[in-house]
Amino acid sequence: MEGIPGDLGWPVIGESLSFLSDFSSPAGIFSFMNKRQQRYGKVFKSFVLGRYTVFMTGREASKILLTGKDGMVSLNLFYTGQQVLGTTSLLQTNGEAHKRLRRLIAEPLSIDGLKKYFNFINSQAIETLDQWAERRRISVLEEASSFTLKVIGNMIMSLEPSGEEQEKFRANFKIISSSFASLPFKIPGTAFYNGIKARDSMHEMIDSIIARRRSGEVIQQDFLESLIIKHSKGTEADASANEDKLTDKQMKDNILTLLVAGHDTTTAALTWLMKFLGENPQVLEKLREEHMGIKANRKDGTDLTWSELNNMPYTAKVISETLRRATVLPWFSRKAAQDFEIDGYNIKKGWSLNLDVVSIHHDPETFPDPYKFDPSRFDAPLKPFSFLGFGNGPRMCPGINLAKVEISIFIHHLVCRYNWRPLEKNDSVQPTLVRMPKNKYPIMVEPL
Ligand code: HEM
Repeated sequence: MEGIPGDLGWPVIGESLSFLSDFSSPAGIFSFMNKRQQRYGKVFKSFVLGRYTVFMTGREASKILLTGKDGMVSLNLFYTGQQVLGTTSLLQTNGEAHKRLRRLIAEPLSIDGLKKYFNFINSQAIETLDQWAERRRISVLEEASSFTLKVIGNMIMSLEPSGEEQEKFRANFKIISSSFASLPFKIPGTAFYNGIKARDSMHEMIDSIIARRRSGEVIQQDFLESLIIKHSKGTEADASANEDKLTDKQMKDNILTLLVAGHDTTTAALTWLMKFLGENPQVLEKLREEHMGIKANRKDGTDLTWSELNNMPYTAKVISETLRRATVLPWFSRKAAQDFEIDGYNIKKGWSLNLDVVSIHHDPETFPDPYKFDPSRFDAPLKPFSFLGFGNGPRMCPGINLAKVEISIFIHHLVCRYNWRPLEKNDSVQPTLVRMPKNKYPIMVEPL
Protein backbone atom coordinates (compact mmCIF):
# COMPACT_ATOMS: atom_id res chain seq x y z
CA MET A 1 0.00 0.00 0.00
CA GLU A 2 2.94 2.23 -0.80
CA GLY A 3 1.89 5.71 -1.82
CA ILE A 4 -1.41 5.71 0.10
CA PRO A 5 -1.30 8.20 3.02
CA GLY A 6 -2.06 6.98 6.55
CA ASP A 7 -0.52 5.44 9.64
CA LEU A 8 -0.37 1.68 10.18
CA GLY A 9 -0.01 2.07 13.96
CA TRP A 10 1.65 -0.42 16.28
CA PRO A 11 3.05 -3.82 15.21
CA VAL A 12 0.38 -6.59 15.27
CA ILE A 13 -2.47 -4.49 16.66
CA GLY A 14 -2.01 -1.57 14.27
CA GLU A 15 -4.66 1.08 14.95
CA SER A 16 -7.20 -1.43 16.34
CA LEU A 17 -7.31 0.16 19.79
CA SER A 18 -8.17 3.65 18.61
CA PHE A 19 -10.57 2.07 16.11
CA LEU A 20 -12.37 0.24 18.92
CA SER A 21 -12.29 3.19 21.33
CA ASP A 22 -13.71 5.55 18.69
CA PHE A 23 -16.45 2.97 18.23
CA SER A 24 -17.83 3.98 21.64
CA SER A 25 -17.43 7.72 21.20
CA PRO A 26 -20.59 9.80 20.60
CA ALA A 27 -20.06 9.81 16.83
CA GLY A 28 -19.04 6.14 16.77
CA ILE A 29 -16.68 4.91 14.09
CA PHE A 30 -17.26 8.09 12.14
CA SER A 31 -14.88 9.90 14.48
CA PHE A 32 -12.08 7.44 13.53
CA MET A 33 -12.71 8.14 9.85
CA ASN A 34 -13.19 11.86 10.30
CA LYS A 35 -9.92 12.49 12.17
CA ARG A 36 -7.97 10.66 9.48
CA GLN A 37 -9.86 12.20 6.57
CA GLN A 38 -8.93 15.62 7.92
CA ARG A 39 -5.28 14.58 8.15
CA TYR A 40 -4.93 12.57 4.93
CA GLY A 41 -7.90 13.31 2.63
CA LYS A 42 -10.63 11.09 1.19
CA VAL A 43 -8.39 8.02 0.82
CA PHE A 44 -6.16 6.68 3.63
CA LYS A 45 -4.74 3.39 4.85
CA SER A 46 -4.72 1.75 8.28
CA PHE A 47 -4.21 -1.61 9.98
CA VAL A 48 -7.26 -2.60 12.03
CA LEU A 49 -8.57 -5.84 13.52
CA GLY A 50 -5.97 -8.01 11.84
CA ARG A 51 -5.66 -6.53 8.38
CA TYR A 52 -4.41 -3.74 6.17
CA THR A 53 -7.30 -1.65 4.92
CA VAL A 54 -7.80 1.39 2.71
CA PHE A 55 -10.68 3.63 3.79
CA MET A 56 -12.38 5.76 1.15
CA THR A 57 -15.51 7.79 0.62
CA GLY A 58 -17.54 9.59 -2.09
CA ARG A 59 -20.06 8.66 -4.78
CA GLU A 60 -17.37 7.77 -7.30
CA ALA A 61 -15.70 5.30 -4.94
CA SER A 62 -19.06 3.85 -4.01
CA LYS A 63 -20.00 3.22 -7.65
CA ILE A 64 -16.72 1.43 -8.38
CA LEU A 65 -16.76 -0.62 -5.18
CA LEU A 66 -20.39 -1.62 -5.12
CA THR A 67 -20.93 -2.51 -8.76
CA GLY A 68 -17.44 -3.87 -9.56
CA LYS A 69 -16.25 -5.26 -12.85
CA ASP A 70 -18.65 -7.82 -14.36
CA GLY A 71 -20.73 -7.63 -11.19
CA MET A 72 -18.04 -9.58 -9.30
CA VAL A 73 -17.96 -7.93 -5.90
CA SER A 74 -16.45 -9.64 -2.85
CA LEU A 75 -17.56 -8.70 0.62
CA ASN A 76 -14.75 -8.55 3.11
CA LEU A 77 -15.88 -9.34 6.63
CA PHE A 78 -13.50 -9.01 9.53
CA TYR A 79 -11.82 -12.29 10.43
CA THR A 80 -14.08 -12.71 13.48
CA GLY A 81 -17.25 -12.27 11.39
CA GLN A 82 -15.99 -14.79 8.82
CA GLN A 83 -15.33 -17.38 11.50
CA VAL A 84 -18.64 -16.89 13.26
CA LEU A 85 -20.84 -16.95 10.15
CA GLY A 86 -19.06 -19.85 8.43
CA THR A 87 -17.39 -20.36 5.07
CA THR A 88 -20.54 -21.04 3.06
CA SER A 89 -22.44 -17.95 4.22
CA LEU A 90 -23.88 -15.84 1.43
CA LEU A 91 -21.67 -13.05 2.73
CA GLN A 92 -18.59 -15.09 1.88
CA THR A 93 -19.52 -16.42 -1.55
CA ASN A 94 -18.91 -14.65 -4.84
CA GLY A 95 -19.83 -14.80 -8.51
CA GLU A 96 -22.17 -17.60 -9.61
CA ALA A 97 -22.42 -19.27 -6.18
CA HIS A 98 -23.45 -15.93 -4.68
CA LYS A 99 -26.05 -15.34 -7.39
CA ARG A 100 -27.52 -18.79 -6.80
CA LEU A 101 -27.90 -18.23 -3.06
CA ARG A 102 -29.47 -14.84 -3.72
CA ARG A 103 -32.00 -16.51 -6.03
CA LEU A 104 -32.94 -19.01 -3.31
CA ILE A 105 -33.79 -16.29 -0.82
CA ALA A 106 -35.32 -13.83 -3.29
CA GLU A 107 -38.75 -15.47 -3.52
CA PRO A 108 -39.69 -15.62 0.20
CA LEU A 109 -38.34 -12.09 0.69
CA SER A 110 -40.23 -10.63 -2.29
CA ILE A 111 -43.32 -8.48 -1.72
CA ASP A 112 -45.53 -11.40 -2.77
CA GLY A 113 -43.62 -13.87 -0.60
CA LEU A 114 -43.98 -11.60 2.42
CA LYS A 115 -47.72 -11.31 2.16
CA LYS A 116 -48.26 -14.53 4.04
CA TYR A 117 -46.33 -13.23 7.05
CA PHE A 118 -48.31 -9.99 7.26
CA ASN A 119 -50.78 -11.20 9.90
CA PHE A 120 -48.02 -12.55 12.14
CA ILE A 121 -45.95 -9.37 11.92
CA ASN A 122 -49.03 -7.23 12.51
CA SER A 123 -50.11 -9.23 15.57
CA GLN A 124 -46.60 -9.07 17.06
CA ALA A 125 -46.48 -5.29 16.61
CA ILE A 126 -49.86 -4.89 18.30
CA GLU A 127 -48.94 -7.24 21.13
CA THR A 128 -45.65 -5.43 21.78
CA LEU A 129 -47.40 -2.06 21.85
CA ASP A 130 -50.28 -3.32 24.02
CA GLN A 131 -47.79 -3.91 26.82
CA TRP A 132 -46.50 -0.36 26.66
CA ALA A 133 -49.75 1.06 28.04
CA GLU A 134 -49.09 -0.50 31.46
CA ARG A 135 -45.32 -0.39 31.59
CA ARG A 136 -44.95 3.21 30.38
CA ARG A 137 -41.12 3.26 30.86
CA ILE A 138 -39.74 1.61 27.76
CA SER A 139 -36.28 0.76 26.46
CA VAL A 140 -36.99 1.17 22.78
CA LEU A 141 -34.00 -0.84 21.56
CA GLU A 142 -34.91 -3.83 23.73
CA GLU A 143 -38.50 -3.74 22.50
CA ALA A 144 -37.50 -3.31 18.85
CA SER A 145 -35.01 -6.17 19.23
CA SER A 146 -37.53 -8.56 20.68
CA PHE A 147 -40.14 -7.62 18.04
CA THR A 148 -37.77 -8.07 15.08
CA LEU A 149 -36.32 -11.28 16.50
CA LYS A 150 -39.78 -12.80 16.93
CA VAL A 151 -40.61 -11.86 13.34
CA ILE A 152 -37.44 -13.19 11.74
CA GLY A 153 -37.32 -16.32 13.95
CA ASN A 154 -40.88 -17.17 13.01
CA MET A 155 -40.45 -16.48 9.30
CA ILE A 156 -37.31 -18.52 9.02
CA MET A 157 -38.08 -21.48 11.26
CA SER A 158 -41.48 -20.98 12.89
CA LEU A 159 -40.01 -20.27 16.28
CA GLU A 160 -42.72 -19.53 18.84
CA PRO A 161 -42.71 -15.83 19.82
CA SER A 162 -42.28 -16.65 23.52
CA GLY A 163 -40.94 -19.44 25.69
CA GLU A 164 -37.65 -21.13 26.44
CA GLU A 165 -36.52 -21.62 22.84
CA GLN A 166 -37.10 -17.95 22.01
CA GLU A 167 -35.14 -16.89 25.13
CA LYS A 168 -32.18 -19.12 24.27
CA PHE A 169 -32.29 -17.93 20.70
CA ARG A 170 -32.25 -14.33 21.87
CA ALA A 171 -29.38 -14.81 24.32
CA ASN A 172 -27.17 -16.49 21.71
CA PHE A 173 -28.02 -13.84 19.26
CA LYS A 174 -26.80 -10.98 21.40
CA ILE A 175 -23.45 -12.70 21.91
CA ILE A 176 -23.03 -13.39 18.20
CA SER A 177 -23.79 -9.77 17.28
CA SER A 178 -21.24 -8.36 19.67
CA SER A 179 -18.49 -10.66 18.38
CA PHE A 180 -18.53 -9.25 14.88
CA ALA A 181 -16.00 -6.47 15.17
CA SER A 182 -13.90 -7.79 18.03
CA LEU A 183 -10.19 -8.45 18.29
CA PRO A 184 -9.37 -11.77 16.61
CA PHE A 185 -8.15 -13.62 19.72
CA LYS A 186 -9.93 -16.88 20.46
CA ILE A 187 -9.23 -16.99 24.19
CA PRO A 188 -11.92 -17.93 26.77
CA GLY A 189 -13.69 -14.78 27.91
CA THR A 190 -13.14 -12.74 24.73
CA ALA A 191 -16.07 -11.55 22.61
CA PHE A 192 -14.77 -13.65 19.72
CA TYR A 193 -14.56 -16.86 21.77
CA ASN A 194 -18.05 -16.32 23.15
CA GLY A 195 -19.34 -15.58 19.66
CA ILE A 196 -18.07 -18.95 18.35
CA LYS A 197 -19.68 -20.78 21.28
CA ALA A 198 -23.00 -19.00 20.76
CA ARG A 199 -22.81 -19.80 17.04
CA ASP A 200 -22.29 -23.52 17.86
CA SER A 201 -25.27 -23.46 20.16
CA MET A 202 -27.39 -21.79 17.46
CA HIS A 203 -26.29 -24.44 14.94
CA GLU A 204 -27.33 -27.18 17.36
CA MET A 205 -30.72 -25.58 17.64
CA ILE A 206 -31.14 -25.40 13.84
CA ASP A 207 -29.85 -29.00 13.51
CA SER A 208 -32.52 -30.26 15.86
CA ILE A 209 -35.24 -28.34 14.02
CA ILE A 210 -33.99 -29.76 10.68
CA ALA A 211 -34.00 -33.27 12.19
CA ARG A 212 -37.57 -32.82 13.45
CA ARG A 213 -38.68 -31.65 10.02
CA ARG A 214 -36.96 -34.53 8.27
CA SER A 215 -38.60 -37.06 10.54
CA GLY A 216 -41.90 -35.58 9.43
CA GLU A 217 -43.01 -34.59 12.92
CA VAL A 218 -43.57 -30.92 12.25
CA ILE A 219 -44.46 -29.47 8.90
CA GLN A 220 -44.38 -25.69 8.79
CA GLN A 221 -44.60 -23.38 5.83
CA ASP A 222 -41.54 -21.30 6.55
CA PHE A 223 -38.20 -20.47 5.01
CA LEU A 224 -36.44 -23.51 6.42
CA GLU A 225 -39.13 -25.83 5.16
CA SER A 226 -38.84 -24.44 1.63
CA LEU A 227 -35.06 -24.89 1.75
CA ILE A 228 -35.41 -28.47 3.00
CA ILE A 229 -38.08 -29.46 0.52
CA LYS A 230 -36.85 -27.65 -2.57
CA HIS A 231 -33.17 -27.17 -2.12
CA SER A 232 -31.50 -29.50 0.36
CA LYS A 233 -29.14 -32.33 -0.51
CA GLY A 234 -30.21 -34.37 2.46
CA THR A 235 -27.37 -35.83 4.46
CA GLU A 236 -23.75 -34.91 3.75
CA ALA A 237 -23.14 -38.50 2.55
CA ASP A 238 -25.26 -38.22 -0.57
CA ALA A 239 -24.28 -34.59 -1.11
CA SER A 240 -22.28 -35.30 -4.27
CA ALA A 241 -25.37 -36.82 -5.89
CA ASN A 242 -26.92 -33.43 -6.38
CA GLU A 243 -24.50 -30.59 -7.03
CA ASP A 244 -27.15 -27.92 -7.29
CA LYS A 245 -28.64 -28.44 -3.84
CA LEU A 246 -27.55 -27.17 -0.44
CA THR A 247 -25.69 -29.15 2.20
CA ASP A 248 -26.82 -28.90 5.82
CA LYS A 249 -23.82 -26.69 6.53
CA GLN A 250 -24.84 -24.30 3.75
CA MET A 251 -28.37 -24.20 5.12
CA LYS A 252 -27.18 -23.47 8.66
CA ASP A 253 -24.61 -20.87 7.64
CA ASN A 254 -27.17 -19.05 5.54
CA ILE A 255 -30.01 -19.22 8.00
CA LEU A 256 -27.71 -17.72 10.60
CA THR A 257 -26.62 -15.11 8.06
CA LEU A 258 -30.20 -14.03 7.40
CA LEU A 259 -30.98 -13.94 11.10
CA VAL A 260 -27.91 -11.85 11.88
CA ALA A 261 -28.21 -9.54 8.86
CA GLY A 262 -31.93 -9.03 9.36
CA HIS A 263 -32.16 -8.56 13.09
CA ASP A 264 -29.66 -5.94 14.26
CA THR A 265 -30.20 -3.70 11.24
CA THR A 266 -33.99 -3.57 11.56
CA THR A 267 -33.78 -3.16 15.34
CA ALA A 268 -31.38 -0.25 14.95
CA ALA A 269 -33.49 1.38 12.23
CA LEU A 270 -36.66 1.20 14.32
CA THR A 271 -34.90 2.61 17.38
CA TRP A 272 -33.30 5.51 15.49
CA LEU A 273 -36.62 6.21 13.80
CA MET A 274 -38.35 6.68 17.16
CA LYS A 275 -35.48 8.82 18.40
CA PHE A 276 -35.58 11.10 15.35
CA LEU A 277 -39.38 11.36 15.57
CA GLY A 278 -39.07 12.24 19.26
CA GLU A 279 -36.66 15.03 18.37
CA ASN A 280 -38.70 16.31 15.42
CA PRO A 281 -42.32 16.84 16.50
CA GLN A 282 -43.37 18.43 13.20
CA VAL A 283 -42.30 15.28 11.32
CA LEU A 284 -44.14 13.10 13.84
CA GLU A 285 -47.26 15.20 13.38
CA LYS A 286 -47.17 14.81 9.59
CA LEU A 287 -46.52 11.08 9.90
CA ARG A 288 -49.41 10.75 12.32
CA GLU A 289 -51.68 12.55 9.85
CA GLU A 290 -50.86 9.92 7.24
CA HIS A 291 -51.67 7.05 9.59
CA MET A 292 -54.74 8.61 11.18
CA GLY A 293 -55.98 9.25 7.62
CA ILE A 294 -55.55 5.56 6.77
CA LYS A 295 -57.40 4.61 9.95
CA ALA A 296 -60.21 7.09 9.34
CA ASN A 297 -60.86 5.63 5.89
CA ARG A 298 -61.39 2.20 7.35
CA LYS A 299 -64.67 0.76 8.57
CA ASP A 300 -64.79 0.73 12.39
CA GLY A 301 -63.15 -2.22 14.05
CA THR A 302 -61.16 -3.44 11.06
CA ASP A 303 -57.40 -3.72 11.22
CA LEU A 304 -54.51 -2.56 9.05
CA THR A 305 -54.53 -4.27 5.65
CA TRP A 306 -51.82 -5.32 3.22
CA SER A 307 -52.96 -2.81 0.60
CA GLU A 308 -52.95 0.08 3.12
CA LEU A 309 -49.42 -0.92 4.05
CA ASN A 310 -48.32 -0.50 0.48
CA ASN A 311 -49.64 3.03 0.30
CA MET A 312 -47.76 5.05 2.92
CA PRO A 313 -45.70 7.56 0.90
CA TYR A 314 -44.64 9.83 3.77
CA THR A 315 -43.70 6.86 5.96
CA ALA A 316 -41.42 5.61 3.18
CA LYS A 317 -39.59 8.96 3.17
CA VAL A 318 -39.29 8.97 6.98
CA ILE A 319 -37.69 5.51 6.81
CA SER A 320 -35.21 6.63 4.14
CA GLU A 321 -34.30 9.77 6.07
CA THR A 322 -33.78 7.65 9.19
CA LEU A 323 -31.42 5.35 7.31
CA ARG A 324 -29.53 8.33 5.93
CA ARG A 325 -29.11 10.12 9.25
CA ALA A 326 -28.41 6.99 11.28
CA THR A 327 -26.46 5.03 8.63
CA VAL A 328 -26.89 1.80 10.55
CA LEU A 329 -24.13 0.15 8.51
CA PRO A 330 -21.50 2.88 8.71
CA TRP A 331 -19.10 1.33 6.24
CA PHE A 332 -19.18 -1.37 3.59
CA SER A 333 -16.17 -3.69 3.31
CA ARG A 334 -14.97 -5.02 0.02
CA LYS A 335 -12.04 -6.71 -1.64
CA ALA A 336 -11.10 -4.70 -4.73
CA ALA A 337 -12.41 -6.67 -7.73
CA GLN A 338 -10.12 -4.82 -10.15
CA ASP A 339 -7.24 -2.32 -10.24
CA PHE A 340 -8.57 1.23 -10.27
CA GLU A 341 -7.57 4.80 -9.55
CA ILE A 342 -9.36 7.05 -7.12
CA ASP A 343 -8.41 10.61 -6.15
CA GLY A 344 -5.05 10.06 -7.87
CA TYR A 345 -4.23 6.88 -5.88
CA ASN A 346 -3.73 3.47 -7.47
CA ILE A 347 -5.78 0.76 -5.82
CA LYS A 348 -4.77 -2.85 -6.56
CA LYS A 349 -7.08 -5.81 -7.10
CA GLY A 350 -7.44 -7.87 -3.92
CA TRP A 351 -6.87 -5.03 -1.41
CA SER A 352 -9.24 -4.65 1.53
CA LEU A 353 -11.28 -1.51 1.12
CA ASN A 354 -13.79 0.17 3.40
CA LEU A 355 -16.32 2.60 2.02
CA ASP A 356 -17.21 5.26 4.59
CA VAL A 357 -20.97 5.60 4.09
CA VAL A 358 -21.57 8.07 6.95
CA SER A 359 -19.67 10.77 5.02
CA ILE A 360 -21.57 9.98 1.80
CA HIS A 361 -24.85 10.34 3.70
CA HIS A 362 -23.75 13.68 5.17
CA ASP A 363 -22.30 15.25 2.05
CA PRO A 364 -23.69 18.81 2.10
CA GLU A 365 -23.73 18.97 -1.71
CA THR A 366 -26.36 16.23 -1.91
CA PHE A 367 -27.95 16.80 1.49
CA PRO A 368 -27.88 20.52 2.45
CA ASP A 369 -27.83 21.05 6.21
CA PRO A 370 -26.95 17.33 6.50
CA TYR A 371 -27.57 16.89 10.24
CA LYS A 372 -31.17 18.07 9.97
CA PHE A 373 -33.79 15.29 9.96
CA ASP A 374 -35.87 16.19 6.93
CA PRO A 375 -37.82 13.45 5.08
CA SER A 376 -38.72 15.90 2.27
CA ARG A 377 -35.17 15.37 0.92
CA PHE A 378 -36.63 12.24 -0.61
CA ASP A 379 -39.46 14.06 -2.44
CA ALA A 380 -37.42 14.01 -5.65
CA PRO A 381 -35.08 11.26 -6.87
CA LEU A 382 -31.47 11.61 -5.71
CA LYS A 383 -28.28 11.19 -7.71
CA PRO A 384 -27.27 7.51 -7.99
CA PHE A 385 -24.98 6.22 -5.20
CA SER A 386 -25.66 9.18 -2.91
CA PHE A 387 -28.09 7.24 -0.69
CA LEU A 388 -26.96 3.78 0.36
CA GLY A 389 -29.35 2.89 3.17
CA PHE A 390 -29.81 -0.58 1.70
CA GLY A 391 -26.61 -0.54 -0.38
CA ASN A 392 -26.45 -0.88 -4.16
CA GLY A 393 -25.27 -3.31 -6.86
CA PRO A 394 -25.23 -7.12 -6.67
CA ARG A 395 -24.86 -7.04 -2.86
CA MET A 396 -27.78 -4.71 -2.24
CA CYS A 397 -29.85 -5.76 0.77
CA PRO A 398 -32.18 -8.68 -0.09
CA GLY A 399 -34.21 -7.94 3.07
CA ILE A 400 -35.28 -4.44 1.99
CA ASN A 401 -38.98 -5.35 1.59
CA LEU A 402 -39.15 -7.22 4.88
CA ALA A 403 -37.47 -4.37 6.74
CA LYS A 404 -39.86 -1.81 5.29
CA VAL A 405 -42.90 -4.00 6.02
CA GLU A 406 -41.87 -4.55 9.67
CA ILE A 407 -41.06 -0.90 10.28
CA SER A 408 -44.18 0.46 8.55
CA ILE A 409 -46.52 -1.87 10.46
CA PHE A 410 -44.90 -0.98 13.78
CA ILE A 411 -44.98 2.74 13.04
CA HIS A 412 -48.64 2.60 12.07
CA HIS A 413 -49.74 1.23 15.43
CA LEU A 414 -47.23 3.31 17.35
CA VAL A 415 -48.21 6.74 16.07
CA CYS A 416 -51.92 5.95 16.24
CA ARG A 417 -51.61 5.10 19.93
CA TYR A 418 -48.79 6.89 21.71
CA ASN A 419 -46.75 9.97 22.32
CA TRP A 420 -43.37 9.61 23.99
CA ARG A 421 -40.50 11.57 25.49
CA PRO A 422 -36.89 10.53 26.12
CA LEU A 423 -35.89 9.78 29.72
CA GLU A 424 -32.32 10.96 29.21
CA LYS A 425 -30.26 12.92 26.75
CA ASN A 426 -27.38 10.91 25.35
CA ASP A 427 -26.24 10.74 21.76
CA SER A 428 -23.52 8.09 22.14
CA VAL A 429 -23.41 5.16 19.78
CA GLN A 430 -23.08 1.51 20.85
CA PRO A 431 -19.72 -0.08 19.91
CA THR A 432 -21.12 -2.71 17.57
CA LEU A 433 -20.88 -3.09 13.82
CA VAL A 434 -24.46 -1.90 13.42
CA ARG A 435 -24.85 1.64 14.80
CA MET A 436 -27.40 1.86 17.61
CA PRO A 437 -28.04 4.42 20.39
CA LYS A 438 -25.82 3.37 23.28
CA ASN A 439 -28.45 4.06 25.96
CA LYS A 440 -31.05 2.03 23.98
CA TYR A 441 -33.27 5.12 23.87
CA PRO A 442 -35.24 4.91 27.11
CA ILE A 443 -38.61 6.70 26.89
CA MET A 444 -41.81 7.40 28.81
CA VAL A 445 -44.90 6.71 26.73
CA GLU A 446 -48.25 8.45 26.98
CA PRO A 447 -51.37 6.94 25.39
CA LEU A 448 -53.04 9.42 22.99
C1 HEM B 1 -33.60 -1.55 8.09
C2 HEM B 1 -33.09 -2.74 7.98
C3 HEM B 1 -31.93 -3.09 7.10
C4 HEM B 1 -30.92 -2.31 6.66
C5 HEM B 1 -30.67 -0.82 6.94
C6 HEM B 1 -30.06 -3.14 5.85
C7 HEM B 1 -28.95 -2.67 5.19
C8 HEM B 1 -28.16 -3.45 4.36
C9 HEM B 1 -27.06 -2.95 3.58
C10 HEM B 1 -26.61 -1.50 3.54
C11 HEM B 1 -26.51 -4.00 2.93
C12 HEM B 1 -25.34 -3.95 1.96
C13 HEM B 1 -24.03 -4.06 2.71
C14 HEM B 1 -22.84 -3.96 1.79
O1 HEM B 1 -22.99 -3.60 0.62
O2 HEM B 1 -21.74 -4.24 2.28
C15 HEM B 1 -27.25 -5.20 3.33
C16 HEM B 1 -26.97 -6.47 2.90
C17 HEM B 1 -27.65 -7.58 3.33
N1 HEM B 1 -28.82 -7.59 4.07
FE1 HEM B 1 -29.77 -6.00 4.84
N2 HEM B 1 -30.55 -4.41 5.85
C18 HEM B 1 -31.71 -4.42 6.59
C19 HEM B 1 -32.53 -5.50 6.80
C20 HEM B 1 -32.29 -6.79 6.36
C21 HEM B 1 -33.17 -7.92 6.56
C22 HEM B 1 -34.51 -7.87 7.25
C23 HEM B 1 -32.52 -9.01 6.03
C24 HEM B 1 -32.91 -10.45 5.95
C25 HEM B 1 -33.98 -11.01 6.18
C26 HEM B 1 -31.26 -8.55 5.49
C27 HEM B 1 -30.33 -9.36 4.89
C28 HEM B 1 -29.19 -8.90 4.26
C29 HEM B 1 -28.21 -9.79 3.63
C30 HEM B 1 -28.24 -11.30 3.59
C31 HEM B 1 -27.25 -8.95 3.04
C32 HEM B 1 -26.01 -9.37 2.25
C33 HEM B 1 -26.33 -9.42 0.77
C34 HEM B 1 -25.19 -9.91 -0.09
O3 HEM B 1 -24.03 -9.87 0.31
O4 HEM B 1 -25.49 -10.32 -1.21
N3 HEM B 1 -31.16 -7.20 5.69
N4 HEM B 1 -28.26 -4.83 4.19
